[in-house]
Amino acid sequence: MSRDLPIGVFDSGVGGLSILTDLRRAMPHEAFVYLADTAHVPYGARSDAEIRDLTDRAVTALHGMGVKAVVNACNTSSAFSLSHLRARFNIPIIGLVPAVKPAVQATRTGVVGVLATPGTMRGTLLNDVIREFADPAGVQVLKAVSPELVPLVEAGKADGPEARAVLREVLTPLREAGADQLVLGCTHYPFLKGSIEAEFGGAFGLVDSGAAVARHTRNVLGGGELLTSGTEPGEVRYFVTGEVERYVGVMASLLGEKVQNEAHLTAAH
Ligand code: SIN
Repeated sequence: MSRDLPIGVFDSGVGGLSILTDLRRAMPHEAFVYLADTAHVPYGARSDAEIRDLTDRAVTALHGMGVKAVVNACNTSSAFSLSHLRARFNIPIIGLVPAVKPAVQATRTGVVGVLATPGTMRGTLLNDVIREFADPAGVQVLKAVSPELVPLVEAGKADGPEARAVLREVLTPLREAGADQLVLGCTHYPFLKGSIEAEFGGAFGLVDSGAAVARHTRNVLGGGELLTSGTEPGEVRYFVTGEVERYVGVMASLLGEKVQNEAHLTAAH
């Protein structure tokens, strides 16, 4: 396989752009294809089988575009699909797991909060990392579930009063119970950092997986001799499965830069 093929990045919607930003920072010469399944977002409230099925379709589409690896930049999708995808595709598949380990290492109160979608809460990956890292350290993990936050980020309302009201409601009990670290267990949530800080000041250390996933991806590609030989900034192409126009603006504002390849922002399936 050519090392100069792009890396595929998949999310149910715009949340994976937070991961894409970290990937580009860690590997500026790599080219990326970003696929957002905006026709079916949010995944968080869907059944296990639906999530697996939609993910399979999206990764099949990326594979068909000739990517050398896929970063499944969606916690909900990763929770149900990773072993299935790895058995089905002969390219590296990198998934997202809530960053419980660094939160456990950072807590001073011994209480850590996890904010995630209903799907991620139900999946086994989160409970696996709690058993592996929090339980042996005697750290208590408190869960806050919200189905509302992803649609608000998708609508470009991450900084608005509705997002702040939801965050106030779901995170206040965690703060009152002494949590000093908050794991952002969904790739949409780094876009809510401003609202969390506006509501809670510095009460929580906010822990996301972006930088760690980017490092891990670089190591996996390096180990397989799949890092690009390119020396120019890599191109990024964007695909959405739903309506195109609305997303150009939302994606550009979340990325903090113009989405250059607007011509490529077309439905993938
Ligand atoms: C969703 O589509 O509901 C959330 C995606 C994620 O968990 O990252």
